[in-house]
Amino acid sequence: MKPKLVVTVLTVFLLIYSATVTADYVRPPPRKTLHFPWSSRPSPSPQQVHISLAGDKHIRVSWITDDKSSPSIVEYGTSPGNYSETSDGESTTYSYLLYTSGKIHHTVIGPLEPSTIYFYRCGGQGPEFQLKTPPLQLPVTFAVAGDLGQTGWTKSTLSHIDKCKYDLHLLPGDLSYADYIQHRWDTFGELVQPLASARPWMVTEGNHEKESIPLFKDGFESYNSRWKMPFQESGSSSNLYYSFEVAGAHIIMLGSYAEYYEYSDQYNWLKADLAKVDRKKTRWLIVLFHVPWYNSNEAHQFEGDAMMASMEPLLYAARVDIVLAGHVHAYERTERVNNGKSDPCGAVHVTIGDGGNKEGLARKYKDPPPEWSAFREASFGHGELKIVNSSHAYWSWHRNDDDEPVKSDETWITSLISSGCIANELGS
Ligand SMILES: [Fe+2]
Repeated sequence: MKPKLVVTVLTVFLLIYSATVTADYVRPPPRKTLHFPWSSRPSPSPQQVHISLAGDKHIRVSWITDDKSSPSIVEYGTSPGNYSETSDGESTTYSYLLYTSGKIHHTVIGPLEPSTIYFYRCGGQGPEFQLKTPPLQLPVTFAVAGDLGQTGWTKSTLSHIDKCKYDLHLLPGDLSYADYIQHRWDTFGELVQPLASARPWMVTEGNHEKESIPLFKDGFESYNSRWKMPFQESGSSSNLYYSFEVAGAHIIMLGSYAEYYEYSDQYNWLKADLAKVDRKKTRWLIVLFHVPWYNSNEAHQFEGDAMMASMEPLLYAARVDIVLAGHVHAYERTERVNNGKSDPCGAVHVTIGDGGNKEGLARKYKDPPPEWSAFREASFGHGELKIVNSSHAYWSWHRNDDDEPVKSDETWITSLISSGCIANELGS
């Protein structure tokens, strides 16, 4: 066979494979994937602009240009059109079968003031964007939605998040649902740009980021090239897991699709990262990953068990407060749990893989629910986590109901540090 024919056959096989491995349960009709008309634009013009935290007081600005000679500079300042600072960064490209990406730029800016609006421009020209830096201290608010994709439901979820006052977006995996079709990464980048260029988007990988081809392509090349997260800044050797601090909270983004067994690189890094957390200063400890450990939906049962067996003891010993996961296309919140049962010193687990992707909802739940399941519902929506102070956080889940955000679940969460679960020497 000719090389082009081999590539085409391989692509068709991968599309069929990716469609079937996730279709093991019945879902309601999903909304259509959005259609993005092609539009001409000058090739140095920045596309798919998004920002992420990059160490203390710094933010990474990422964007793509068709023009390979466009510089990786970001000009920025606190007044519109008046850029007092300039940072230079790095760039990369990648090829995937017949697709070649544009020039992907990553430029770190800072030091930046907290709770401040900055105006910025990418590549020395083009439109002006603006971002707001997170606060130095509590309170801080996170928007949370996983398994986004790019459908009519995704658009609805994003418009609801846009209406809420939040400081960062947390995304526990499955971003674009490109599923090997690389230009869908580009359309996803354009879809989220209005939000992701204005507030840091902190993401971790899901199965739809994997895109590996046996003996030909390792997974995560597109994801790692486009969505560079602060792994080096947090002492990790992989973009698939990292941590960051914001407003006195420590957030750990784990990788459900990186090695997690005892003494693996990720396990060792997690252990070291947790050991560095000073609970006298860091009152809240939050962890995200893609495949939930506590899930009473019939979808994706047992998939998280091996990771849970390896890593839950570390999280429990460190007194992690909240765990946010995706993967299951429905919402569920647990009581505080550990080792398969309610435990006042365990974490509250939330499954929030209901951002609105093309696969639709996971509607079948186990009946009766386990004793640790506090609330569950198969609807698209998003979550908001407001950490109010060192002892209290307010969690709410907003269902997409006829395109209106409806607050459907809410609860106050008391931090473990103020619940007597942390030994005195750690500073209760
Ligand atoms: Fe997933």
